[in-house]
Amino acid sequence: MEKPYYGYRMNTYISVALIGSGIAGIALAIIFTTFMYSTWGLILCWALGAVLLTSGVFWHLSMGFASKSKTAGPFQDNFADHLRSVWDGKGKVLDIGTGRGRAAVEIARRFPEAWVIGVDTWAKLWALWEQTKAGAEKNATIAKVADRCTFQYGNALDLPFKDGEFQLVVSTFAFHEIHVPDRMVILKEVIRVLSPGGHFLICDLFGGPPLKGYKVKNVSELIRRVEQFGARDVEHKTLKEAGLKLRLARIRGMAYLSGRKKEVMHADQALEGIKARGEG
Ligand SMILES: C[S@@+](CC[C@H](N)C(=O)[O-])C[C@H]1O[C@@H](n2cnc3c(N)ncnc32)[C@H](O)[C@@H]1O
Repeated sequence: MEKPYYGYRMNTYISVALIGSGIAGIALAIIFTTFMYSTWGLILCWALGAVLLTSGVFWHLSMGFASKSKTAGPFQDNFADHLRSVWDGKGKVLDIGTGRGRAAVEIARRFPEAWVIGVDTWAKLWALWEQTKAGAEKNATIAKVADRCTFQYGNALDLPFKDGEFQLVVSTFAFHEIHVPDRMVILKEVIRVLSPGGHFLICDLFGGPPLKGYKVKNVSELIRRVEQFGARDVEHKTLKEAGLKLRLARIRGMAYLSGRKKEVMHADQALEGIKARGEG
């Protein structure tokens, strides 16, 4: 039986190409060494071969996990367990930077009372990594949830939805790919489109150097800023703390950021929201 595919085969192709060319370079260098054709050719082949081989191994170690479907299952289980502990599984859900619909399709599949929309900009380059609207729709069809899980163009920086439309907003591995001087804009948008009391669960790089992208110094400051937008119970949990036993969980900063929108907004938070939308 066909299963939805959320991996990144391109990473395997890149590793194979780099390692293959590295080995070819080193093989040429050995031939040059044996027959002493050219000293410069020899140096070039050793250097190129070593650089390509090292890059290939590095690429495989850092990105290879993402191409394996083996990784996808345990992560999706962990994500769903985390969701189950905070959300009742009912209502309208938004998946930001959905790609091939990893979070969107899996939520629709595991929570039969959820209606899910996945948004993405699906820039051309991402098609090489198979992150396309057609791919997401195919996954929804394979998972037999296409009637409750749809996809549309939508920029995380200016979501095409009214305030308070969703009971849940999620995102996986997308925020660090969204290019903007201050990523806090994305979190403001998350809170804006949530209904009062609605939940959010984002999995991305929320620690170490990537925090610079949010213009904060540490996790406490990140949490405080999100609370200022009108969120409560904001929690930061590394994937390791969340019990995930995969190489993915060892990536520095990889964590869940979760919380919910306050039921009642104070005047200053409402004003902050208005400013964020540029209406003030
Ligand atoms: C690493 S992929 C993650 C895809 C998917 N969420 C997953 O877990 O496999 C990052 C995604 O972010 C999307 N993206 C980048 N900038 C975006 C933006 N401004 N608004 C919405 N999506 C964006 C890309 O098109 C890509 O599909």
